[in-house]
Amino acid sequence: MSIDDAARRAEQLRREIDTHNRAYYEHDAPTVSDAAYDALFRELQALEAAHPALATPDSPTRRVGGRPLAQFETVAHAVPMLSIQTETDTGASGAENFDARVRRELELPETAPPIEYAAELKFDGLAVSLRYEHGLLARGATRGDGLNGEDVTQNLKTLHDIPLRLQGVAPPVLEVRGEVYMRRDDLARYNQRARARAEKPLVNPRNGAAGSIRQLDPAIAASRPLKFFAYGLGALEGWNLPATHRELLDALAAFGFPVCEHRTVVRGWRALADFHDRMGERRAQIPFDFDGVVYKVNSLALQNRLGFRSREPRWAVAHKYPAEEARTVVTAIDVQVGRTGALTPVAKLKPVFVGGVTVTNATLHNEDEARRKDVRIGDTVVVRRAGDVIPEIVGIVPEERPLARMRFQGRKAWLSIRRNFQSFGWRKIPAPYIGRMPRHPAFALPETCPECGSRIVREEGGAIARCAGGLVCPAQLKGALLHFASRRAMDIEGLGEKLVEQLIAGGHIKTPADLYTLNMPMLASLERMGEKSAANLLAAIEKSKATTLARLIFALGIRNVGETTAKDLAQHFGKLATLSQADAAALEKVPDVGAIVAESILDFFAEAHNREVIDRLIAAGVHWQENEGRADAPPGPFSGKTFVLTGTLPNLKRDDAKALIENAGGKVSGSVSRKTDYLVAGEEAGSKLDKARELGIAILDEAGLLRQLKGD
Ligand code: IVH
Repeated sequence: MSIDDAARRAEQLRREIDTHNRAYYEHDAPTVSDAAYDALFRELQALEAAHPALATPDSPTRRVGGRPLAQFETVAHAVPMLSIQTETDTGASGAENFDARVRRELELPETAPPIEYAAELKFDGLAVSLRYEHGLLARGATRGDGLNGEDVTQNLKTLHDIPLRLQGVAPPVLEVRGEVYMRRDDLARYNQRARARAEKPLVNPRNGAAGSIRQLDPAIAASRPLKFFAYGLGALEGWNLPATHRELLDALAAFGFPVCEHRTVVRGWRALADFHDRMGERRAQIPFDFDGVVYKVNSLALQNRLGFRSREPRWAVAHKYPAEEARTVVTAIDVQVGRTGALTPVAKLKPVFVGGVTVTNATLHNEDEARRKDVRIGDTVVVRRAGDVIPEIVGIVPEERPLARMRFQGRKAWLSIRRNFQSFGWRKIPAPYIGRMPRHPAFALPETCPECGSRIVREEGGAIARCAGGLVCPAQLKGALLHFASRRAMDIEGLGEKLVEQLIAGGHIKTPADLYTLNMPMLASLERMGEKSAANLLAAIEKSKATTLARLIFALGIRNVGETTAKDLAQHFGKLATLSQADAAALEKVPDVGAIVAESILDFFAEAHNREVIDRLIAAGVHWQENEGRADAPPGPFSGKTFVLTGTLPNLKRDDAKALIENAGGKVSGSVSRKTDYLVAGEEAGSKLDKARELGIAILDEAGLLRQLKGD
C-alpha cells in the first residue's frame, strides 16, 4: 500500500472508530459487533505501526497502550485548583446565607434586584485539570493540594468522555476543570464482573473514580467505567471568555466536553433553595452520586469582583444534602472476630437502600457501644450513611420495640425495665407497655470466641474484647493470611479470600509459613483452581520470598504495627534478630513507638509459636536485605550492575521488577547501551532485545532475574 493510500485508510478508520465510540460510550447504542470493532481497531494499529508518521496524537489508538509508570510526575497548576466553601446548613437558609454573603461583599443595597446564579450538581468523584494546547490534550492532572497535582495524562486519555482533540476552533491554551466519576449502574456491572473473576470489587463510585485515576498502570483505568463532567476553567490563552458561567459551560460543551444536563440559571436565593430541593428529590433517579449542589454567581465579571478568600472563591458555595437516613429492622446481632482477635458486634439488618447503597450490616463497634445504644434483635433502627462512611446505627425507635407479656418478676426486674424506658427519655411507662417487657435481652458478648471457643480477654481500660486464640483461631488465621499476602506486605497476588478459606478448611495451612509448602497437585485440585492459576499462585509465592525487612515486619500482623511503624522499626533496628530481642526501652527509641506499641511487639516475640513461624519462613527461603534501612546499607548482589527492562514479564509488574533490582543495589535504565549489564526481557520484547543481542548483552527472563537475585 502506498503511503498516500495508507494515510487515507488511516483517516477513514479513525473517523469510523470515533463514530462507533460515540455511539457506544455516549449513546449507549453500539453500532457494530465487538469483533468488527476490534478488526477496525487492529487495522488502524497495524497501519500506524507500519507508518509511524501517520500516527496522530488524537488517534483512538492513543487511548490505550501506555506503559505503567514508576511514579507520577508532579504538575504545578498555572492557576490553582480551588476548593469550594461548604454550607453546612442543609435547609433553605443555606442558600439564603450564601446569597446574603454575596450581596454584602458586593455592597448591594437591600433594594438591589436579585443576583443571577448558575446552579449545578456537586459531583462526587475526583477533580482533574485538562490542559489543551492548540486543541490537543497535552496533559491531565489531579488536584493534589490545589497548587501541585499529579500528572495522570495516561489514565485520563483512557476516558472516552475526554476529547483528545477539541472540536471547532481551539485557542492556544485552554485548561478545563471537571470531575471524573462513575455511574452507579456501571459500578454495579463492573463489580459483578470483578466478583466473577474473584477480583476485589470497588467500594463505591467515588473511590472507584479516585482510585482508578491514581493507578500507575493505565490498563487499570482503561478497564474501569470512568466518566467525566466539565464544570470550569483553569489557565487560558487566546480565547475570549464569555460573560457568564452558563455560557462558559455551553462553550465547553461545544468543544466536545460532557457537561451535566442538570443545571440552571436562576435569580435570588429562593430559586436556589428550590433547585436544591428538586435535585434532592431526584437523587435516586439520577444515575450517579452527588452529595449536594453548587451555586455560582453567573456573571464572570461579578465573580472577578468577588474574588477569593484563602483557597475558596467568594462567588461559589456547595450546598450539601443531609446524610441519608432510613429505618429498618435488626434481624440478628452477630459477633465478628477480626484479624487481631477483636470482637465486634455487628447488627444484621433487613436490607435497606440508603445513601446510594443497600445496607445489610451496621457495626456496633464494641460491647459498650452496643449497650449504650441498647440495640436488640427485632428493634427498628435508624441507619445513616454519608459519603463513603461505614453505615451506622443512629438509634433505635423505642415505640417499635417488640414486647412480651411480663411474667411476675419481682421489683428488681420491674425497676430495670423502668430504667430501660427512662433511658429513652420517657419519664413514665406508657400504658400499652405496662406489664410488658422487651422480648429480647440486652446485648452481651458471648463468654467464648464464637469462632474457636477460646477465652475472651478485655484489654485493660479498653472497650475492646479479644479472642486469646491467636493463630489457632480460624478467624484470625484467615485475616492473618490475607494480611500477610496483601500488596503492601508480602504481595502475593492471587491469594484471595475464597482460596484462603479453602486452604484453611482443607487443613493445608495452619500458619503463614505453610504457604511456602503448597504444591501444584494439591492446589490444582482445589475448587475454581486450574493448573494455570495454581502455577501463577506458586510463582507469586516464590516471588514473595524476596522481600524487605519492613514488609516482613508489617506482614507478621503484630498488633498496633502498621506499615509506617514497620518501616520505622526496620530502619531503626536493621535486623530482625535485633528487633526481636529489643526490650521496651529500646523499642520506645523508635519514632512514634510508645508504651502500647512496644508492649504489642514484646508480646508478639514473647510468643514461642510466633518465633517458630518466623524460623519456618526463613527456612522456606524468605529473605531480605538486613540493614536495608540503615544509611550504611551494605551493597546488594546487584550493586554496580545496570539493568534494562523490556516487554511484559509473566508475574512481576514493571515497578516490582524495578524495586527488586534497586533493592538489591542495581540500577534500572531506560535504554540499552554498552554499559547495560543485563536485559530482562518479557513477552513482546521489541527493539531493545534486538539491540541487546547485537551488543552481546546478557539476557534474562523473569525466572533468570529471580535466580540471579538469590545468587544462584
Ligand atoms: S467548581 C472555584 N463545580 O468540589 C470552585 N466543583 O471544589 C472550583 N466539585 O473537589 C470548583 N462538583 O471537584 C465545582 N459543579 C462543581 C463541582 C465541583 C464537584 C468538587 C471539585 C472539588 C470540590 C471543591
